[in-house]
Amino acid sequence: MRFVVTAGPTREPIDPVRFLSNRSSGKMGYAIAEAAVAAGHDVNLISGPASIPAPSGVKIISIMTSDELHDAVHRAVRDCDVLVMCAAVSDFKPATVERRKMPKRKTPFALELIPTRDILASLPRENRKFFVVGFAAETHELEASAREKLLAKNCDMIVANDVSRSDSGMESDENEVTIFFREAAPKKISRTSKKIIARELVKIISKMSEKCLTKKS
Ligand code: CTP
Repeated sequence: MRFVVTAGPTREPIDPVRFLSNRSSGKMGYAIAEAAVAAGHDVNLISGPASIPAPSGVKIISIMTSDELHDAVHRAVRDCDVLVMCAAVSDFKPATVERRKMPKRKTPFALELIPTRDILASLPRENRKFFVVGFAAETHELEASAREKLLAKNCDMIVANDVSRSDSGMESDENEVTIFFREAAPKKISRTSKKIIARELVKIISKMSEKCLTKKS
């Protein structure tokens, strides 16, 4: 199968030397890309600036901003069977990007932020020929928020993780996730390495996407 995996953070520039970003390391997405290659799939990895080397055997497409990620995803899904949207996309960006480095100030000031585009929600909803896996980064009410995102973003399944814990989730080598589906019962993968979680996810995604894509064709 042809996988498109997104990973890592986005960077939203403020001026030539500053940006808004988040703590995502890219580890979960990279582990999924690696596990998908190991399982014999063809993988395009669209990555923000991650702190780790790209796994071998994947085609890497580098992006910086949420707008670049938006365009790269829309191009890549024309030709894929599975999209795994693991990237930690910035939800907002500066309303304007200063062309010159902003000088130091001695008094407080406000930066105007505007929402970025929701990439998953922007994908076609009808007659889609690819299976969509979303991620949900939650600090509270994990199940309710993840289920809401599953529907609002029209995903086929969503992988929820608690990012408020310091021993798993963002930056860590470990994670604990619960997968929510549209029809099947949720499945929890207890705390373990991101590499093991990735292998398990690829197995589940392969099985579910085959079923779903056969039903659609
Ligand atoms: N996502 C996206 N486009 C955005 C923001 C997020 O496609 N502009 C995707 C993420 O890659 C992930 C899913 O949406 O697969 C959920 O991301 P998450 O950060 O959990 O939720 P948000 O939609 O950003 O909502 P909130 O931050 O309020 O929880």
